[in-house]
Amino acid sequence: MKDRVVLAYSGGLDTSVIIKWLTNRGYDVIAYMADVGQESDFAAYKKRALATGAVKVVVEDLRDEFVKDFVFKALKAGAIYENGYLLATALSRPIIAKGLVRTAQREGAKYVAHGCTGKGNDQVRFEVTVNSIDPSLKILAPVREWELKTRSEEIEYAKDNNIPIDTTKKKPYSIDVNLWGISIESGKLEDPYYEPDEDIYQLTKGIDKAAAKPAYVEVEFKKGVPVKLNGKAADGVSLITKLARIAGDAGVGRSDMIENRLVGIKSREIYEAPAGWVLYKAHKALEALTLDRETLHFKELVAQKYSELTYYGLWYTPLKEALDKFVDETQAVVNGTVRLKLHKGTCSVVGRKSPDSLYKKELATYEKGDVFDQSLAKGFIEIWGLPYRGSYRKGK
Ligand code: ARG
Repeated sequence: MKDRVVLAYSGGLDTSVIIKWLTNRGYDVIAYMADVGQESDFAAYKKRALATGAVKVVVEDLRDEFVKDFVFKALKAGAIYENGYLLATALSRPIIAKGLVRTAQREGAKYVAHGCTGKGNDQVRFEVTVNSIDPSLKILAPVREWELKTRSEEIEYAKDNNIPIDTTKKKPYSIDVNLWGISIESGKLEDPYYEPDEDIYQLTKGIDKAAAKPAYVEVEFKKGVPVKLNGKAADGVSLITKLARIAGDAGVGRSDMIENRLVGIKSREIYEAPAGWVLYKAHKALEALTLDRETLHFKELVAQKYSELTYYGLWYTPLKEALDKFVDETQAVVNGTVRLKLHKGTCSVVGRKSPDSLYKKELATYEKGDVFDQSLAKGFIEIWGLPYRGSYRKGK
């Protein structure tokens, strides 16, 4: 019997060529597609995979699990990488890797394969996750080692091997899509000074095209998880889908960054995460209202670490799981509603309310009803500043 390999298949050129390449080397290839909200034509890709030589195609709808166990965990943690990336691609890799392992075990495959290059983060995320779940599986990464050095060589190979691909379409960028957002890189973006054409953006309108009137949205959270949009209860997948449309129309959710990859390269990235930005800001605003100062400040450190662990492919690791427990502990009081105004690319929090609010008007007010005893401030400041009396050094 031939060795079986489960390949993370996207339907694109690289992974189509991989099916043939592995088949030519004597493997039986099972193509695995996870639906994480990328809206691919799975039926067409299934046909393509079989026509290319896959012995079987497995498609799994992982959208609910993706939102519940990955996206919302990151949201509760406040994870954002280098201030601009809400980690859409990074969050999808561990769930896809888990699907590869599950499929390999079910199909009796000793190998899993992916189509990542040797220069990116995704190879790390796939492989670390696979190894953490089932170290007996062997991993094949054809793109890292094959002889096809350029895209035209791949197209040539595809033609020679009758691989059904669409070679007429130019592929100006490398794009990864899921429910949480889009990541775009390479091509003309490799010049960090180059301003991308408007047509690079798929989920967000430019300022010129964005709605003239502001859109107001209300998001209700329970234990840090968004449960209602504009007063209507919605499951995670539909809440994100609806909100993405509203925010995208208002031009909210773009970032353009130079980012530090794990493998040491700086790269230019364009991201769109319209629902992500609104939810990230709303969640932060609600935490500001409901968390005490020390928890809030400490949680900033956790958010930083959490984003690195996610970005570095260390999702299924003891530290990340311990941080989830800490985050969940803090979220018990993150209940309430945030109102936001989305307009011409901006997303502003304009209101927040919570049954667990720590805001006390009677302490904050400068009007009647003030219960704060200002006379206590004098003693507080003296003791607070005691260690520093006369400590200023002239001409240091
Ligand atoms: N730089 C981002 C990350 O490391 C996005 C990677 C996107 N992948 C792609 N095939 N376009 O998560």
